[in-house]
Amino acid sequence: MIEVRDVQTLDGKTTNYFIESVIHRTIDAKGLTLLPALIDPHVHFRIPGAEHKEDWRTAAKAAIRGGVTTVFDMPNNTPSCITKERLEEKMKLIDSQLFDAKIPLRYRLYLGADRSHLNEIGKTKREIIGLKIYMGSSTGDLLMDDKASLERAFEIAKKEDVLVAIHAEDEEMIQKLKKKHEGKTDPALHSVIRPPIAAARAVEQAISLVQKYHTRLYIAHMSTKGELDLVRAAKKQKLPVFAEATPHHLFLDDRLYGKIGASALVNPPLRSQREREALWEAVHDGTIDTIGTDHAPHTLEEKKRPFGSAPSGFPSIELYLALLLNAYHEKKISLEKIVSLTHTNPQEIFRLKPNSDVVLIDLNKIKRIDNPSLATKAKWSPYEGWTLKGWPRYTICQGQVFDI
Ligand code: NCD
Ligand code: ZN
Ligand code: ZN
Repeated sequence: MIEVRDVQTLDGKTTNYFIESVIHRTIDAKGLTLLPALIDPHVHFRIPGAEHKEDWRTAAKAAIRGGVTTVFDMPNNTPSCITKERLEEKMKLIDSQLFDAKIPLRYRLYLGADRSHLNEIGKTKREIIGLKIYMGSSTGDLLMDDKASLERAFEIAKKEDVLVAIHAEDEEMIQKLKKKHEGKTDPALHSVIRPPIAAARAVEQAISLVQKYHTRLYIAHMSTKGELDLVRAAKKQKLPVFAEATPHHLFLDDRLYGKIGASALVNPPLRSQREREALWEAVHDGTIDTIGTDHAPHTLEEKKRPFGSAPSGFPSIELYLALLLNAYHEKKISLEKIVSLTHTNPQEIFRLKPNSDVVLIDLNKIKRIDNPSLATKAKWSPYEGWTLKGWPRYTICQGQVFDI
């Protein structure tokens, strides 16, 4: 049994809290606040095929440091995870790395949608957390941008009761704009080549398929007012449409290009301050259901490449909770809202069984982010030098205590 002594709860009470465990331990939690552990519905832990960027030993440590005990990993691996066989191989690799790391991180995997493997959806439905469709290209070679396959995927997913998660950017538009700006070197063009309208167009197409088939739809990394208005309308019609925001679209915007150049590349791209404000509004009015980190590590060397060859993506899982707690101190968000976005809502949307994992946070701890000390193998983040107030102190995962 683990006894958490004198801990604060969200309703302002001080209590002793008990967690079932094979170990006996008492934690003096005076001054700490208890939250349910976080669920991160969107990570790229890079196994198999890109172990030089991240693996589950480093990533699990990063997750625990961020107060996260459950992650859903994306299928854009090398090779991409598009069959039952690859899914099972991937799980074996992950289990052995988590065993090495002695971290019982809870995880689920997405199956990648591929037009010639749509029969895998039914075969894997009991194992997967959802089907991931890349409507626009991003890291990796997964892409399903033709109407007929998209429609078929939504139809099958509904029949098999599988949730569809999408990377919503219109590929045709991206390719046209890419050609138009070919050879140019300004990294800020990344946001021009992948404009807000490309995201909105893909979201519109996906929602029209939900209208037709009633498939449960989870829209990853929403970043524009156009997309949010479409989701608002879909929710009004009581369609099963759910929306995710990332920390980077909430806390960063396109001014970052001026500071770190092509290292600021991410898909969908960083947007204007106005789009960012619209995203915060959507967090508050309930249009945004979850926060997913889209933890997407690349090596320092890769991130320092010039525009044209630099990859897109930011690691951030270990800063996930601290960024939100700091926003709480800035009066941008309440602790209750943080819990619903990072725990209650994802638990419900993805139909997870409740568990007893918790995170004990020190709301008064102030710490400066130092990229070289991060647990992620990438040793990089777009938040270098930021000073945040409010950090996790202990994460308790499956009855195991991690002192952060
Ligand atoms: C992700 C990656 O690197 O895997 N990159 C990104 O910019 N977000 C892929 C993705 O989520 O689109
Ligand atoms: Zn994506
Ligand atoms: Zn992603």
